Amino acid sequence: MSKISRRSFLKGAAIATALPLVANAAQAKKESLKFIHVTDSHMDLSNSDSVEAMEIMRDFINDNYKDLDFVLFGGDNFNNNAPSDKDALKFKEIADGLHCPYYSVRGNKESSPKGDNQINLAAFEKMFVDGRGLKTSGKDWLLETKGYNILGLDSCIEHQNNGLYTEKTLSFAEQTLKSGKPTLILNHHPYTNYWGGTEEKDIHKYVLNNTQEAQKRLFTYDNLLLTLSGHKHIDSVKEIQGSKVIVTRGFIRPLDLDMYPMRYVELSGNEINEKLIYTA
Ligand SMILES: [Fe+2]
Repeated sequence: MSKISRRSFLKGAAIATALPLVANAAQAKKESLKFIHVTDSHMDLSNSDSVEAMEIMRDFINDNYKDLDFVLFGGDNFNNNAPSDKDALKFKEIADGLHCPYYSVRGNKESSPKGDNQINLAAFEKMFVDGRGLKTSGKDWLLETKGYNILGLDSCIEHQNNGLYTEKTLSFAEQTLKSGKPTLILNHHPYTNYWGGTEEKDIHKYVLNNTQEAQKRLFTYDNLLLTLSGHKHIDSVKEIQGSKVIVTRGFIRPLDLDMYPMRYVELSGNEINEKLIYTA
């Protein structure tokens, strides 16, 4: 029978105690980030189907994606054309029913209030940015979670439907990327003419106006894993300098009755799994 010294017994016990910790650490490292990107829902109080669609979205996510970390709304979430801030409030009321947190950037609808009473930047921030644990810089925000940086960048120009990143936005994104952490960017206007548009006016409206500068300053960072945009309502998954560049089909474009599109994304380390999904 082999003898075990007190010293080696204690050492063994220490290893046995430490092992679960090591395993837990490895598990924590592999912990994945799961979220859904919903963009261009254009909820409009004058169209009850568009309101019902949002309720379907909320219930579908609550029933089928119970382990989501959050939902990201990509702008043009509501049409911002109801008297006062009624449509913003209705959108918030529905989204507040999600089982997980949600974060939003503005689209051209939110940045183009029609009257004095409709939602402007300050009102949007108060409703959808403040009090959510986000770091903010001007119109932009940063969510730090599970080792990832999620940047919500505002590419809107007040009262215009085209978009660009301001110097302040680009600097904030650069500073964030410099940390080296795996980073995602959520914004409204896509980076390329991915749909092959030929009308100059259309390209000006839909493609981020200073996309070349944005690509030069942001996409050169290897840790920029993924960008998520909307605005054009046409789905696309491409790459720019090794970063995955996604534009999600507009939620306003159902495939069939009650089949509203959104994108499910799961990240584990630098690995990205994503798919376009539909409600119902
Ligand atoms: Fe838009």
